[in-house]
Amino acid sequence: MSELQELETDLLAKIDSAENESALEGLRVGALGKKGVISERMKTLGKMSPEERKEMGPVLNGLKTRIGDAIETKKQTLEAAALNARLASEKVDVTLPIRPEPKGKIHPVSQVTEEIVAIFSAMGFDVAEGPDIEDDFHNFTALNFPADHPAREMHDTFFFEPREDGTRQMLRTHTSPVQIRTMKSQKPPIRIVIPGRTYRCDSDQTHTPMFHQVEGLVIDKSAHMGHLKGTLEAFVKTFFEIEEVKTRFRPHFFPFTEPSAEMDIGYEHVGKEIRFGQGADWMEILGCGMVHPNVLVNCGLDPDEYQGFAWGMGVDRLAMLKYGIPDLRDFFAADARWLEHYGFDPVDQPNLATGLSR
Ligand code: DAH
Repeated sequence: MSELQELETDLLAKIDSAENESALEGLRVGALGKKGVISERMKTLGKMSPEERKEMGPVLNGLKTRIGDAIETKKQTLEAAALNARLASEKVDVTLPIRPEPKGKIHPVSQVTEEIVAIFSAMGFDVAEGPDIEDDFHNFTALNFPADHPAREMHDTFFFEPREDGTRQMLRTHTSPVQIRTMKSQKPPIRIVIPGRTYRCDSDQTHTPMFHQVEGLVIDKSAHMGHLKGTLEAFVKTFFEIEEVKTRFRPHFFPFTEPSAEMDIGYEHVGKEIRFGQGADWMEILGCGMVHPNVLVNCGLDPDEYQGFAWGMGVDRLAMLKYGIPDLRDFFAADARWLEHYGFDPVDQPNLATGLSR
């Protein structure tokens, strides 16, 4: 075997057994790099006689090409092997079952908030949120509360100590300030629901100082009272998961809507149970109305161009009604046994396709 053939056999064997890309790169430099064995031989071509060069040129070039090709082929093999190893080690086995009994329960307030958001999301509403600590403008003034409105009194509102300029921040008394924040920052059409915590100085079986609301707001050029009624009637049917719900809208007063109404749903007592949707008794579940022109003006919207409707409902109250929970104060007592009884499976996310509650 000639010396060159020996070199070729040796190199090909080493390339073939290279274990990884860096070993292969070492071989490439050793053979074809600037000072590599083949490169060194190529340099000798210049010193040969023309006859010799004619013979050795093709021999050496052939060697160079074959070694180069062998390295390239091996490189691809190694890359493919590395990729396969990575795919195998990073594989997620989606057939693995989840733990049979997840620990912990979803609180009824979280569950019902998710249910309400799921229903309005399916109707095309977005979710908006705002701060729990508000100023007078967003919580009252922009919502058209007159300066001497009783809701501004210490009696209802948790105020902070006055600041140096005399203004007082407060814990928001409702989610309505987020209407203002949204109308000031977003161009109509607006369709949002606003879930959040709210605060009032009040405590008994059906009132806690911190409670939860979901606010709704629709602003466009043609939204009217019929849309408001249709939206809320569709909501209660889906929420209570019953075919027919008797509802009525009673005239009411809110500074930020005109006309304003409260929505009641029919119910009756059957033995110890309260049954919704039918019967001769009425229960108030939310306040609503057409957004007052002053509120639109306070948010920089032209009331001759835009109009809309809004509503606000108590999440805790709806949770008590839907799931038969008797005392609101228990919601916030952090009693694990209570949560075990009234809580929801964390794996069952409320959605309209598989059912809200299971
Ligand atoms: N903010 C009211 C409250 O807390 C509820 C409410 C009533 C909200 C009517 C509205 C509305 O958006 O239109 O009592």
